[in-house]
Amino acid sequence: MKQFKILYLASEVAPFAKAGGLADVTGALPKALKGFNQEIRLMIPKYKFINERKYILREVIRLREIPVTINGKTEIANVKSAFLPDSKVQIYFIEIGDYFNRPGIYIDPKTNEPYSDNAERFAYFSKAALETLRILSWQPDVIHCNDWQTAAVPVYLKTVYQTEPFFNGVKTIFTIHNLTSQGTFDTAKASEIDFDESQTRDGGMFNKDGQLNLTKAAIHFSDFITTVSENYAEEIIRDDKIGFGFGPLLNENAEKFEGIMNGVDYSVWSPEKDKFIPNKYSKEDLSGKEENKKALLMRLGLEYKPDVPLLGMISRINEQKGFDLVVEALDDLLAMDIQISIHGEGDKDLLDQLTNYAKKYPNKLKLNFTYDDKMAHLIEAGSDIFLMPSRYEPCGLNQIYSLKYGTIPVVSAIGGLFDTVDDLDDESNDGTGFIIEKLTAKGIVKAVKKAVAFYKKKDKLVEFQRRIMDEDFSWEISAKRYLDIYDRVINE
Ligand code: GLC
Repeated sequence: MKQFKILYLASEVAPFAKAGGLADVTGALPKALKGFNQEIRLMIPKYKFINERKYILREVIRLREIPVTINGKTEIANVKSAFLPDSKVQIYFIEIGDYFNRPGIYIDPKTNEPYSDNAERFAYFSKAALETLRILSWQPDVIHCNDWQTAAVPVYLKTVYQTEPFFNGVKTIFTIHNLTSQGTFDTAKASEIDFDESQTRDGGMFNKDGQLNLTKAAIHFSDFITTVSENYAEEIIRDDKIGFGFGPLLNENAEKFEGIMNGVDYSVWSPEKDKFIPNKYSKEDLSGKEENKKALLMRLGLEYKPDVPLLGMISRINEQKGFDLVVEALDDLLAMDIQISIHGEGDKDLLDQLTNYAKKYPNKLKLNFTYDDKMAHLIEAGSDIFLMPSRYEPCGLNQIYSLKYGTIPVVSAIGGLFDTVDDLDDESNDGTGFIIEKLTAKGIVKAVKKAVAFYKKKDKLVEFQRRIMDEDFSWEISAKRYLDIYDRVINE
């Protein structure tokens, strides 16, 4: 296997900073690449809440007080370093000005609004990352960027750094994790982050729908673009709604665009190794699963009733994830003999509607409107059924975790969900979950009913659980596909 020097850039990396599935991926793929003997280093912003003592962040004398200038304004960066837990993957934490010394990652918790200087925050992070490389005298073969927060890197390399010998020949990969968040700003922001203003006009490389669009910029300037499942890659080209109109541009760039299924880190997400659940279990001995269910129900304040299935959801509570339909379906769902636990942050309007249902069904429905990683593990382990009725889902990870935890996934036939769950055929005993045929409230109820009926067939259930726990979505295969792409762009 060839060895490359890879710089991996992201705005979130688990366990240091997590707002969603992105962090699970960025915390895991680099470890898999390291496993293939690659020279890989990560950089992320040093958010205020990252615990320096817990994760043993060390000062690097050379990387103190690095001046970073954008649009004539100089900010000072200080960079510390640590390792990804249980690995030899080095990660640098970039502190710059007061851009990240705040309680939120993207959103100000006080106002629930994005920080008004998000464009500058991540532009400074991107440029500071490049300046750090120079001081380290470490010239990567590729810089792998993730989502719009790192989009300025491919742009800067081909504009403001174009004549710098140090960056000569450095290639860029840009991974799209979710097109719902594209990094859109007022076109006036372009000059403030050293982007050519003329390209923000209609038809320009930075303009989409009248706004500065960092994802579009990255698609134009990167050497290769990937997204996180094969099916989503096709959908965003084919379907204007799912692709937010990016279809034609991606199609033009089809020779440098590919979908690669995310893997999962089974050292963190498997019932044998899970550090957060009270009872470990395996496909040989599933008894711990029932004990976790009891523990979870206790935490939720619900009564344990043998043979009554618990349906779990861990998700951002919004329309993309199908929660308007869930609300519509709740009366019918709760008419069944089941209990439901919903966990996650989301849109106020939907949270209010769910709260009303929780008042109506206090013994059946429990809500937690936060994201707590520990609780997420317990819900995966303690639930019998896991529901994901997303309208679009680039990859989705919780359904893959559900498989490993022997929890029956019920998913819509979309994006990565479609790639990872096969509809259960009761006759042939095939399949790994239940697909929602028609994504409506009725369709959700129908699929959940099938799952509940299946849950009651105890003899079949255990056999099924053992089968789905055997499904393997570990990173090895996908990491190799990334290596192929690195190889291709480097030797272009
Ligand atoms: C985003 C997507 C999700 C994907 C994750 C990691 O959060 O919404 O589907 O699994 O990124 O790529």
